[in-house]
Amino acid sequence: MSHKALKVVVLISGGGSNLQALIQDSHAPDAPYEIVGVLSNRQQAGGLQHAQRASIAQQVINHQDFNDREQFDQAMIAAIDGWQPDLVVLAGFMRILTDDFVTHYLGRMINIHPSLLPKFAGLDTHQRAIDAGESHHGASVHYVIPELDAGPIILQASVEVKANDQASDLAARVLTMEHKIYPLSVRWIAENKISFKENCAYLDGERLPAHGYQIG
Ligand code: GRF
Repeated sequence: MSHKALKVVVLISGGGSNLQALIQDSHAPDAPYEIVGVLSNRQQAGGLQHAQRASIAQQVINHQDFNDREQFDQAMIAAIDGWQPDLVVLAGFMRILTDDFVTHYLGRMINIHPSLLPKFAGLDTHQRAIDAGESHHGASVHYVIPELDAGPIILQASVEVKANDQASDLAARVLTMEHKIYPLSVRWIAENKISFKENCAYLDGERLPAHGYQIG
């Protein structure tokens, strides 16, 4: 791997299937990035095993060990910055982040959210899309800003909502798309195709539309 590869730290709380997709992609000979650390707020997060198998440095910082969000976030910053990443990737990290944390990584932290933002910010997105009678649902990769699930969108992939879909069916189809667009987004950032300026996302120097680059 080139020593110029973008250094990425991934934050997880759960199963880590997106982390695994990123690990696999980063092992491709042409990958322009490497994962230098994985941080979890839960010791039981299944994703830690993916990191272990790939011999990636990992650390657990349990939010319950801290009196407040500020102290927890400062401990995370110390751990993350110890790895000196160029990019912080939230992959199913289930804690609300303080403004100080977000500001510290502004323009160099991304998240993946399982909906076609700005629709369905927050939790339980698949059931809410079904209940709303949406014809399409999907996933969005976006830069993180202090407002939840509201940062400029980089990439968005949509899938059809089928008649009789259960939330779990829809979630599985969306997750398959997540595993494509998250590695692609990280590649594009590593290749400087995507950039962040004055709270907007740019692709090849052109400001992206509000829904980002569309796939699917
Ligand atoms: C994904 O649905 C992602 O969009 C959301 O959390 C879930 C994480 O899944 N932010 P996994 O842990 O990557 O399997």
